Amino acid sequence: MMKATELLQEDHEKMRNLLERLRSARDKEELLLKVEKEIRIHAQLEEALFYPAVRDVDGAWVDSALDAHQQVDELLEDLIDAVEEEEEFEQKLNELEEHLNAHIDDEEVRIFPQMEERLEEQLNELGSQIGQMRSDLEEEWREAA
Ligand SMILES: [Fe+2]
Ligand SMILES: [Fe+2]
Repeated sequence: MMKATELLQEDHEKMRNLLERLRSARDKEELLLKVEKEIRIHAQLEEALFYPAVRDVDGAWVDSALDAHQQVDELLEDLIDAVEEEEEFEQKLNELEEHLNAHIDDEEVRIFPQMEERLEEQLNELGSQIGQMRSDLEEEWREAA
């Protein structure tokens, strides 16, 4: 069993690596779909299951994090739209990476350690809920493909 924060941190690592790979990928379309899926699923998991617990601790932070998700979402749309334009794509990728990494760092530095201290054993339960919801969302993506 894994803690919620550990699972989310694994997602962060995956997203960082995918964006790095996207920079040099020849077939961008396929990888981009993977990036989109990972970013969207991760945001849904956090917003549905993790942030409600964080809200009890720091509501203002959650509001700013939701803004950050919104912004990442818009940059992701821009990136998808720019897939045919090499220069534009690189520029959008830089922007997305910058915003996503800043948000991820913010979570890992400011929020995860605090939640690990406060929630302790509840984090395992939350982790299994996250795992369950991830399977459901992945199933939806498979059906939509
Ligand atoms: Fe987030
Ligand atoms: Fe996150």
